[in-house]
Amino acid sequence: MITASTPADCVSVAIHRTAQPAEFAASLRRSFEQRRIDPKFHYTSARQAAEWLALHKKYSPFIKTADGTAVYDAAFDWAVGNLPSSSVQLLSLACGGAGKELRLVQALQRAGKAVSATVSDISVPLVIEGFQVLTGEAALIGVNAVALDLLETEVLDAVLTAGAGQGIPRVVTCFGLMPNVDPLVISARLAALVRPGDVLLVGANLVPAENYAQSTDAVLGEYDNPETRGWLSLLLADCGFEPGDGEVRFAVEACASLPELLQIVGRYHLHRDKSIWLDGHALNFSAGENLRLFFSNRYTPSLLKQVFARTKMKIPGEWISAGKTEGVIACQVTSP
Ligand SMILES: C[S@@+](CC[C@H](N)C(=O)[O-])C[C@H]1O[C@@H](n2cnc3c(N)ncnc32)[C@H](O)[C@@H]1O
Repeated sequence: MITASTPADCVSVAIHRTAQPAEFAASLRRSFEQRRIDPKFHYTSARQAAEWLALHKKYSPFIKTADGTAVYDAAFDWAVGNLPSSSVQLLSLACGGAGKELRLVQALQRAGKAVSATVSDISVPLVIEGFQVLTGEAALIGVNAVALDLLETEVLDAVLTAGAGQGIPRVVTCFGLMPNVDPLVISARLAALVRPGDVLLVGANLVPAENYAQSTDAVLGEYDNPETRGWLSLLLADCGFEPGDGEVRFAVEACASLPELLQIVGRYHLHRDKSIWLDGHALNFSAGENLRLFFSNRYTPSLLKQVFARTKMKIPGEWISAGKTEGVIACQVTSP
């Protein structure tokens, strides 16, 4: 039996050029040509998004550690107190499943504020998940959903706020993205987006500064496991690699643009020559070479602050879990 769809069965997602198939395919091809896969390519298919959400539930300190949510809740209480207006606009960047944003919206609602929201992510399945969490669990109406690459979108502010009320103070959230992007690029992007009166909250998995290298090594097991290999291999399979073509190995490396920052890197080592076909081009790989399949930057609390302090934003708040595995900082710009 065919049942009629109602408007409630539909979700409107604005898909920016940077997330549309043509640009996405060209960007994926360039990533393979340069032997450096942008982590964004691991979240975009329905299966990748579902497997990432399952991994997130299993390994994220936000869910796993006793005070993971408490750190975020403390940051949200601060944000509520520092957004004096009765209306607030949430701009959620790289929303993923928007579980953190849900708690923020609920804190704003408890304080009697009217909340409007835009959720954004490179992944269409995840931006839909974020939309559904905020409309379903927080009962927000009129949530805008935008799929985009926030590093590649020119006039990011205009794209994110199209159709939104003007002049409303904004809380901009960027949770869990810092590990997956270049520190200098993302901090400059966020500093350009934030306006005087806005609150920017940045959250990331951290490691303690004491024994930094050892503490980062200790996190390797969260990546070097069958589920994470399975998740990262979805992209390889989708691009034409077959079992036996190579293997993924994880190691700790220094970040190229900020060498004091360590990152966990997954490299795909080719066991045999391989040709794949992407975006209308043949790409050839030789046995013995490797490509960077994934990276996850591991900040210490002070490295995270340093990256934003160099953009000249002020950092009026920081909340770090007892084990220093999860942290949030608040950033603001002052009027010129
Ligand atoms: C580790 S997840 C974090 C998700 C969520 N904010 C959280 O804290 O649970 C990283 C998210 O960043 C998104 N992402 C990665 N690169 C991106 C880019 N260049 N532009 C927009 N979103 C991106 C991914 O699709 C994914 O949802």
